Amino acid sequence: MTTQQRKILVTSALPTANGPIHLGHMLEHIQTDIWVRFQKMSERNCTYVCADDTHGTAIMLKAEEQGISPEQLIEQVSADHQRDFSGFLIEFDNYYSTHSEENRYFSELNYNRCVEAGHIDVREITQLYDPKKQLFLADRFIKGTCPRCKAEDQYGDNCEACGGIYTPSELINPVSAISGATPVEKQSSHYFFKLPDFEEMLRKWTRSGTVNEGVANKLQEWLDQGLQDWDISRDAPYFGFKIPGTEDKYFYVWLDAPIGYLASFKNLCDRTDGLEFDDYWKPGSEAEVYHFIGKDIVNFHALFWPAMLSCSGFRTPTAVNVHGFVTVNGQKMSKSRGTFIMAKTYLEHLNPEYLRYYFAAKLGSGIDDFDLNLEDFAQRVNSDVVGKLVNIASRCAGFIRKKFDNQLAAQCAEPALLAQFTEASSSISALYEAREFGKAVREIMALADNANRYIDEKKPWIMAKDEAKLAEVQEVCSVGINLFKILIGYLKPVLPHTATQAEQFLNIEPMTWDAICQPLLGHQINTFKPLMVRVETDKIEAMVAASVQSTPAPVKPKESAAKGPLQTDPIADEIDFDDFIKVDLRVAKIINAEHIEGADRLLKLTLDLGGETRTVFAGIKASYQPEELIGRHTVMAANLKPRKMKFGVSEGMVLAAGPGGKEIWIVGPDEGAVPGMRIK
Ligand code: 2FM
Ligand code: ZN
Repeated sequence: MTTQQRKILVTSALPTANGPIHLGHMLEHIQTDIWVRFQKMSERNCTYVCADDTHGTAIMLKAEEQGISPEQLIEQVSADHQRDFSGFLIEFDNYYSTHSEENRYFSELNYNRCVEAGHIDVREITQLYDPKKQLFLADRFIKGTCPRCKAEDQYGDNCEACGGIYTPSELINPVSAISGATPVEKQSSHYFFKLPDFEEMLRKWTRSGTVNEGVANKLQEWLDQGLQDWDISRDAPYFGFKIPGTEDKYFYVWLDAPIGYLASFKNLCDRTDGLEFDDYWKPGSEAEVYHFIGKDIVNFHALFWPAMLSCSGFRTPTAVNVHGFVTVNGQKMSKSRGTFIMAKTYLEHLNPEYLRYYFAAKLGSGIDDFDLNLEDFAQRVNSDVVGKLVNIASRCAGFIRKKFDNQLAAQCAEPALLAQFTEASSSISALYEAREFGKAVREIMALADNANRYIDEKKPWIMAKDEAKLAEVQEVCSVGINLFKILIGYLKPVLPHTATQAEQFLNIEPMTWDAICQPLLGHQINTFKPLMVRVETDKIEAMVAASVQSTPAPVKPKESAAKGPLQTDPIADEIDFDDFIKVDLRVAKIINAEHIEGADRLLKLTLDLGGETRTVFAGIKASYQPEELIGRHTVMAANLKPRKMKFGVSEGMVLAAGPGGKEIWIVGPDEGAVPGMRIK
């Protein structure tokens, strides 16, 4: 009986052409690449496509800033992205662009079919508009004073100082972050995809093994809250595709981005014999389609995307595989700490396979965040790959070369040990399939321990001194080399470059999964060359040093006329003493202060309250370097209810004074104050 070969199409999320590839992207692309390499090794018909996500206002503005066309910008960025991916041994079958004719074709097709089926609505909406720049402003391009706490310089939809959520039109003194002009309200007609029409379909789809349980539960929450129509249009000027039948409306970048998966695949099909687009994308297709994405873009991939596909006559994905974020040394990647590491910077200092191994060794199929602990990274790679795996080959190869002219023994001296290694094949294969790479690596490394133990017990270096035991030396070292072959075969999806070098040393054809366990008997190998050197910690330090970026001063769209504090802050309404006394003010010692990735105004403070530690987010970033705060005493409101803010929960507030911007000073008690003391 022959089982039909599986046809599999795999994608990673399309990186935005608005910035460089960093280690956050690499987690996803390495995860996907390992899975794809495993499928290809297992002789499945597997195709891996990706592309740059090129449209939107941000790209249009960036090109303008650089004095080049958006087309020129996206071409340069795509070349950089592809250089970085290839540096990490990511092997796409096609890397394309969403700014392509295929993508325009499918975007229009999907849209037209959704129009025909009655799932598109057009209605007028009112938005803030930059009269100087003549464009509508998305929330992130508007800044102003928070309507709740009056903090200045806040983004259009949430306040970093008080955690308030509001609409941009509620901001006090809003300004365009692009031109500094005061935005005006303006109406325009927008096109909406009627997502609620797909509620039933999505309820079924999200519970049919397409996403893991945690993700399905989150999706159910959204479904239970009720779906909203999705605004799929943007007004000119916009870098993207014009909506058919309109003069000045463009598809929102998030509409054509996932369609880029179809476009990249179609582009590949058009130049590959035997690869048929419809075999993969027509409804009822038996081919499998998998998207690998991060947890921040689940709504686009598990709601809008399947709904759009089903509305426009395509099949829906087999699964959307979601991963968590990368943290470095337990914290969010940070430019000021040098842990926001670009792929290019990593590659200038370290071997890509170190990171591939470390990611694989700790990755599971879930959405937990991944911590790249730089000390553990070096230790793990050195102990596992260099100390255990490569060591097996280097311990045995010398004897085979010196004493036996690189010829392996004609028979296997340890069939039971070989059988143990061979039997692991199916469970390791199942773990790769399930994206449980960490478990697969653990199993492989347990076998590597067994191989090293075997060599330690046999001690070929002692036997080699005794002429009578030479045949046994050949047998033991041949067993060692065969065990090494199996281990590097199992790790080939993770370490493709080392595996290729090992195949050359072993003098064998590139291994398929089935060939991993075929023994090499009486076989001539080549002279061993070191396969991987140890991770050097000074290289890691150099990489971190090269990644430190000074944080740019917060964007101040428009200087308001200088005003004294009294003019900006009139004395508030009188309160009763009873109200005042409710606030429990305490002396607090700042035991840590740090920047927060993505926060313009806030620093994260760790405060010692005399036996209790609190985390507080304070809007004092423009005034202080974190280091100068550590060790100082300040005053905090200690009984304020914890508030959930964008970057975490703030457990109180420190007192500070000043008109704003750089002029904010934290309140410090006189000498003698001790953490925890009540202010009276
Ligand atoms: O989040 C992002 O970086 C997007 N560029 C991902 C797009 S994935 C797909 F939809 F194209
Ligand atoms: Zn506020």
